[in-house]
Amino acid sequence: MTIGQSNFAQKTFEITTKNNVLVLETDKDNSLLLSYIGKKLKNTAEYSSIQSLDKYKPGSDDLFNKREAYIASGSLNLLEPALTVTHADGNKSTELTFSRVEEKQIDQNRKLTSIVLKDAKYNFEVSLHYLSYFNEDVIEQWVQIVHKEKGDVVLNKYASANLTLSGKKFFLKNHYSGWGREMRSEEQQLLHGIKTIDSKLGTRNNLLNSSSFMISIDQPATEDLGEVVAGSLEWTGNFRLDFETFDEYYLRLTAGINNFSGNYTLKPGEEFITPRFVYTYSANGKGIASRNLQNWARNYQLLEGMGERSTLLNNWETTYFDFNDEKLNHLIQDTKKLGVDVFLLDDGWFGNKFPRNNATAGLGDWQFNKQKLANGISALGKEATANGVKFGIWLEPEMVNPKSELYENHPDWIIRQPERKEYYMRNQLVLDLSNPKVQDFVFNTVDEVFKEVPDLAFIKWDCNSLIYNANSPTLKNQDHFYLEYVKGLNSVLERIRKKYPKIPMMLCAGGGTRVDYAALKYFTEFWPSDNTNPFDRIFIQWEYSYYFPSVAVDNHVTDMGKQPIKFKTDVAMMGKLGYDVKVNELDEKELLFSQNAVKIYNSIKDIVWHGQQYRLQDPYENKVAAISYVSETRDTAIIFNYYVSTLYNAKNAIPIKLKGLDPDKMYKIEEVNLYPGTTSPIDSQRSYSGDFLMTVGINPEADAGRTSVVLKVMTL
Ligand code: DGJ
Repeated sequence: MTIGQSNFAQKTFEITTKNNVLVLETDKDNSLLLSYIGKKLKNTAEYSSIQSLDKYKPGSDDLFNKREAYIASGSLNLLEPALTVTHADGNKSTELTFSRVEEKQIDQNRKLTSIVLKDAKYNFEVSLHYLSYFNEDVIEQWVQIVHKEKGDVVLNKYASANLTLSGKKFFLKNHYSGWGREMRSEEQQLLHGIKTIDSKLGTRNNLLNSSSFMISIDQPATEDLGEVVAGSLEWTGNFRLDFETFDEYYLRLTAGINNFSGNYTLKPGEEFITPRFVYTYSANGKGIASRNLQNWARNYQLLEGMGERSTLLNNWETTYFDFNDEKLNHLIQDTKKLGVDVFLLDDGWFGNKFPRNNATAGLGDWQFNKQKLANGISALGKEATANGVKFGIWLEPEMVNPKSELYENHPDWIIRQPERKEYYMRNQLVLDLSNPKVQDFVFNTVDEVFKEVPDLAFIKWDCNSLIYNANSPTLKNQDHFYLEYVKGLNSVLERIRKKYPKIPMMLCAGGGTRVDYAALKYFTEFWPSDNTNPFDRIFIQWEYSYYFPSVAVDNHVTDMGKQPIKFKTDVAMMGKLGYDVKVNELDEKELLFSQNAVKIYNSIKDIVWHGQQYRLQDPYENKVAAISYVSETRDTAIIFNYYVSTLYNAKNAIPIKLKGLDPDKMYKIEEVNLYPGTTSPIDSQRSYSGDFLMTVGINPEADAGRTSVVLKVMTL
């Protein structure tokens, strides 16, 4: 449907999902305002009354800083803008008014509403796109900019979305990271002024800050109480999130690509499309907000979100760079012995003139190392097949070590400032993916591996350096560098996916420092952290779960941490299970336990991957942390409980209330994944109503002697 231009009649547009609505309206100046985001009203006719109740008036008139849906600078708006433009004639003002709307029902669940805004003076147009996912209560929002001015226009800021929220107070939950310390969480009241969370790192965009966050309105929301907006920017590069509180009752959120060092020159007729900002609103706490994003991701964004994953044995923490055919062949046999699907060969298999025997050399030279692997990766692939398992491989194709043939032969492919000192992260530099020749090189690196191992079943794609000395040797306009890098990366991933649509790929960046929903369109999963200490992992996985479903989260059982193997395994089961242990050094019971654990995991993985997740008891304030996954039919739930206290003789004293069950169904509870020779105090003969389990709860009886407990709740 297209509504033609009309300057003065007020128009109201509703972006509606199952429980919520976003109301946009034109005012008397024909500006487009965001007048409401929240729970749906029963009577939709009442939406048009909302705007008149908003008595915001910061100065002596009511003009400046209207609640515009997308805020341009240089005219009326004097707070942080979403859009700043230098027009072809050098003028820096933009004022956008409503031009037309187009609505397209894509299918029963998805609707795209595109509202076109125009500048009155310049031939400059901005389309606001709102793609709503009805059942998931999720909206993706982005912007398309086009102009027909008499020369180039420069976009100085070009955010994907603005949202102006009203409330008495606002609280931001955001996440900061470092290597091995991903997704540390903090929650703070946003007082007056602007808080900006951003990245200027180029690659490894989440090394310092996450591009996912939650805002609570009025008070910090709990799992089940309070108003929350949860959002995430879909961009695998520099991002910027501005949170500006103004007057007494408003918070304006601006989310988009970081405009740092990024003035974008747009030719007449050329289109600029921003990345998408995905968000959800929950009137009832953070739990629903997370499940909304997780459901959306599984159904629409994450590659194979509703599909299967492979369990695996990885050699990184057991061999590091020190391996040869013989050792690897043993590991392939161990893969079979353990019962997992894939043997994943990590870093160190390549480089000849500069062998990759440590992290200082070889990156970029993707030919197998002849000393370590006499017959190459092709022979390893065959060995895996002969042993009834699959073969996967590690790559870090965006990078180069100065000690490599690639560095010697293609200095013009490397990001650096030729006149300045080179700075390295992990002894390496980043290749210039804005250059199409480099894009071909990266694509061919992957393609060549497939030529050697046609049955390749898994790729771990690593990225261990951020970008120092940002500068492309070939790009004409360095202001486009950061953007062109990401576009180059996406175009390579697009090509890989076209040729190899199904191969599972793990997104890794020296741990979990590149986790965003644009990348997860191409990757089936991600590596959350090199920190595999299961105690720390409980917290790391807990925090990722606010935004990402467990089916995307790869967890390995390793030698890190002094906890028993059962504890490690239970923690790793809350996602995609893998191993990085010396199987031949496990004692008899540990091996038996692990083999059974893989079988049990295979029987519950569908619920962990595709069920609804409930964070029942947090690890910060409780002696026992509890997380559950409930099947779609609500017939089965898996409850993971971990004892996280250091207090002597502490216990989980009171029952833990379950969530998401059917109150009218009867359930029994069985403890699973017991260590050989142990018995469970949980009475599997008793039955409970869903109502009882959700109102009174169940005590998993986790304590210092039973540090992790996995319960299976099943209907009778
Ligand atoms: C960093 C990754 O996070 C590790 O898992 C491992 O693959 C190493 N790189 C290999 O260099």
